[in-house]
Amino acid sequence: MIALTVNGNRMTFEGDDKMPLLWYLREDVNLHGTKFGCGVGQCGACTVHVDGQAFRSCVMPMGALSGAEITTIEGLAKMDELHAVQKAWIEEDVAQCGYCQAGQIMATVNLLKNIPNPTDKEIDENHTNLCRCGTYDRIRKAIHRAADLMKTEG
Ligand code: FES
Ligand code: FES
Repeated sequence: MIALTVNGNRMTFEGDDKMPLLWYLREDVNLHGTKFGCGVGQCGACTVHVDGQAFRSCVMPMGALSGAEITTIEGLAKMDELHAVQKAWIEEDVAQCGYCQAGQIMATVNLLKNIPNPTDKEIDENHTNLCRCGTYDRIRKAIHRAADLMKTEG
C-alpha cells in the first residue's frame, strides 16, 4: 500500500505500482484539472507538484510516491486567495482553449521558486510546456506579472 497526500488530504493507493500519477489523480481522486496531453512527458499538460517540485504526472509511477505530497491545480489557491500566478494569468487573460493552462501555471510556480525574476531568455529556456493555441507571448507576460505580484505580496 502506498500512502501519500493530495492537496493536503491523506490518501492510500493499492493498485499497480506502474500506474501513472495522472491516472490516479483523474480516475481515482476525481481531480480533472490536470490534463492528459501527450502521455510521454513532452507537453507538460499533466504538470503537478511532488514535494514542491514540478513533475509531469503522466510519466510518474505511483510506486515512486510513497510518502509524497502532491499538489494539483485544485490545491494551489489557499482558502479563497488565488496564488499570485493564478492572479497574473487572469490579469493577462492568458488562456485560449485552456487545455494546457493548469500545467502552465503549475510549471510557472516552480519556475518562479527557482528563478524569482526571470528574463525572457530564462523563461524560454526553462518553461518548456507546450500550448497548441500558441499563447506563449501572454504566458511570458503573465510570468513577469506573477514575479512582480509575488514581490509585492512577499
Ligand atoms: S501529458 Fe504528460 S507531458 Fe504531456
Ligand atoms: S490554451 Fe489551448 S492548448 Fe494552450
